[in-house]
Amino acid sequence: MLVVQGVTKQIGGLRAVNGVDLSLGENEIIGLVGPNGAGKTTLLNMISGISAPTSGKITFCGEEITGLKANQICKKGIAKTFQIAESFPGLSAQESVMVGALFGKPRKTSMADARKEAASVLDFVGFPAEKMQTTVKNLNVVELKRVQLARALASQPKLLLLDELTTGLNPKESKEAVELIKKIRDTGVSILIIEHVMSVIMGVSNRIVVLDHGEKIAEGRPYEVVNNQLVIDTYLGDLHAF
Ligand SMILES: Nc1ncnc2c1ncn2[C@@H]1O[C@H](COP(=O)(O)OP(=O)(O)O)[C@@H](O)[C@H]1O
Ligand SMILES: [Mg+2]
Repeated sequence: MLVVQGVTKQIGGLRAVNGVDLSLGENEIIGLVGPNGAGKTTLLNMISGISAPTSGKITFCGEEITGLKANQICKKGIAKTFQIAESFPGLSAQESVMVGALFGKPRKTSMADARKEAASVLDFVGFPAEKMQTTVKNLNVVELKRVQLARALASQPKLLLLDELTTGLNPKESKEAVELIKKIRDTGVSILIIEHVMSVIMGVSNRIVVLDHGEKIAEGRPYEVVNNQLVIDTYLGDLHAF
């Protein structure tokens, strides 16, 4: 479904991402991990069209999408959530999700349909029904994350990119997030997820890819990766959460 070949992002004198290859199949969840500054967000930004690669090629469902704009890529079926969960602070929760339903899909959607779809996807992600009309800036972090996820899902993606969805959540909330991620996968959506909490990554990923200094240093099934000595030395050894 997604094939990333030799993708590089040069930012000034720094190669934030350096010749990374990655592929992801249908109904697959890939966990992307690595130390801060490893290039994880930069890689997701290139896949979702927020920034263009300096070199390399990205193919989605057999079609090259390298360097297309974020709105074009979203309409082809790739949606992303952001590391910092801020979005349209002046809109209500429902309106914020309607943005995804109205502008994220390839086909035109009426306001009435967008309103219904937003309500249904907010319900799917467990957002409290009585807060649908609450202004986004008055929501707590868990509610904000659910709105952000709902907005991404409202664009009806085939591939969902999640950047640190559980950051700021407590262990119980993170566990709920894991269940939700699996529930989304079971609807037929593939997922590429950046995550620091190893229990979350281990719980959901079919495969894990490890980045360090912009390069892929390991890839494999979860138990293989956490037992890889290079991964332990460069990343897991420092993780108190593990
Ligand atoms: N817009 C930018 N301008 C300058 N440096 C950047 C920019 N975006 C990312 N970087 C740098 O690229 C590297 C990778 O960053 P990032 O992709 O955010 O890492 P991660 O998400 O793995 O923590 C870091 O060294 C970061 O400082
Ligand atoms: Mg990041």
